[in-house]
Amino acid sequence: MEKDWWKKSVVYQVYPQSFKDTTGSGMGDIKGIIEKLPYLADLGIDVIWLNPIYQSPLVDNGYDISDYFKINPEYGTMDDFKSLLEKAHFLGIKIIMDLVVNHTSDQHEWFKKSCESRDNEYSDFYIWKDPKEDGSAPTNWGSTFGGPAWEYVESRGQYYLHLFAKEQPDLNWEKPKVREAIYDMMKFWFELGIDGFRMDVISLISKRQDWPDAPEDAVYTKSYYIGASNGPRVHEFLHEMNQEVLSKYNTMTVGETANTNSDQAILYTDPEREELDMVFHFDHMHLDYGPYGKFSDIRFKMSDLRDVLTEWQCKLEGRGWNSLYWSNHDQPRAVTRFGNDTNYRVESAKMLGTLLHMMKGTPYIYQGEELGMRNVRFTSFDQYKDIETYGVKKEFEEKQLAEEYIKESIFLKSRDNARTPMPWNGSEMSGFGFTTGTPWIDFSPDNVWINVENCFADKNSVYYHYKELIRLRKELPVVVDGTYELINQTDSDVYGYIRILAKQKLVVICSFAENKVNYTLPIELKRSSAKLLLSNYHDTKKELDDLELRPYEAVIYLIEE
Ligand code: GLC
Repeated sequence: MEKDWWKKSVVYQVYPQSFKDTTGSGMGDIKGIIEKLPYLADLGIDVIWLNPIYQSPLVDNGYDISDYFKINPEYGTMDDFKSLLEKAHFLGIKIIMDLVVNHTSDQHEWFKKSCESRDNEYSDFYIWKDPKEDGSAPTNWGSTFGGPAWEYVESRGQYYLHLFAKEQPDLNWEKPKVREAIYDMMKFWFELGIDGFRMDVISLISKRQDWPDAPEDAVYTKSYYIGASNGPRVHEFLHEMNQEVLSKYNTMTVGETANTNSDQAILYTDPEREELDMVFHFDHMHLDYGPYGKFSDIRFKMSDLRDVLTEWQCKLEGRGWNSLYWSNHDQPRAVTRFGNDTNYRVESAKMLGTLLHMMKGTPYIYQGEELGMRNVRFTSFDQYKDIETYGVKKEFEEKQLAEEYIKESIFLKSRDNARTPMPWNGSEMSGFGFTTGTPWIDFSPDNVWINVENCFADKNSVYYHYKELIRLRKELPVVVDGTYELINQTDSDVYGYIRILAKQKLVVICSFAENKVNYTLPIELKRSSAKLLLSNYHDTKKELDDLELRPYEAVIYLIEE
């Protein structure tokens, strides 16, 4: 098998809990994913990234693993998983799993033993520290979901570190036996036949051993970055992991790297350094952050987005590889955040797809994005399920922020926006084709009109546009290998770029404007012989010339010389 297959691949992210339930439990399951494999094959994707399906108390929906070798019974059995692998592979679809090794669940046997005493086999599997003289925590770090990052345990008279919930204690990567245990576990899954890993918060695994306090003005829930992000040994650890495990299999790896800029990304993804294939960065996710971080009511600026994406395209050229994404299970819905989810929902969802999928890198589609799903307007706070949303509400209430602001920022940013069940049809009576039972989280009221069945029936749906984008990547080497060049830096609403490979040039022009805008094309690109490959309006003109772009219009032309 070819080695860099992931460069040509389109990845589809399945959030198992919300994809398809076959038992009536209200939670999606592995058999449900198997049932929907033909849907995914038909869309044309190459790889499925599965969010965690391991045994877990689900405090953080599976990112708190209590046994790395077991499937959570809510999702099915190991046999179900083997059958998923076999059937996916039969259809030419690869499967990558989530690797969550910055931390485990507090219900993991290792942690239970580690809590018992300071001198057993697992004592130093986690990060334990003595209290300061006054009994307080070793550093002033806050944790991602609110509250301090240190928790005191009576039996040891010490604090343990948790960058996420207190039920997610951080593993101690300094200890070789911890790393060995992780590598063995990874080999177990590769031997079973999986094709790679998405590595959860992998930029956080190496902690500074001088345990510095964070500056007072740091955003509290991220204040641990000072001692934990891109830490002193992170590249050493990943290179070791690569040598011990990854290099022995034909894999794909993508690291989730919070707080990592494009220079640091090269260190993770430069093939010569033998670490990871690509990383998920957050620079474009940060464009609408406010004074309290992610939860804000600020809208991004298109020119910032263009700067950020261009920087990543240019910096990694020839030195690393980009992963391209608008959303995932931690982010709100793309069309609400970056498009217009009311008057131009379909147009802007297609425009966003076009902009991203024609770039250089591996595109990721988050389930439902191909339908143009929007954020969910829950009417009562109880409808939210996510630990992060509860943490933010508490923090904002303590800060006495206005109720309206709290509500709106949660509507705009809660992770639950992405977690409502996948709508397979528009019938509420049939649980929208997701479940015959009560869903673990409420359905989006949009399901009656935004659903798979309706998308199939409408030849102008977002779904068919995504299918075309995937097809273009398969058909045209320039989409995979072409270099990227920005067309016009100054335009405030239009993002245009070209991709170049030998005699092929792909011209991609996307409008973020809500009204018609005139776009003057650089003279050297004007061609009557150019071919219009795809547009989100049906009557876009065929020749490549100055354009009058309609709201959220996106066009792709091919020039061949
Ligand atoms: C990652 C996951 C997120 C999880 C966190 C802790 O950011 O994507 O869902 O809560 O790590 O594991």
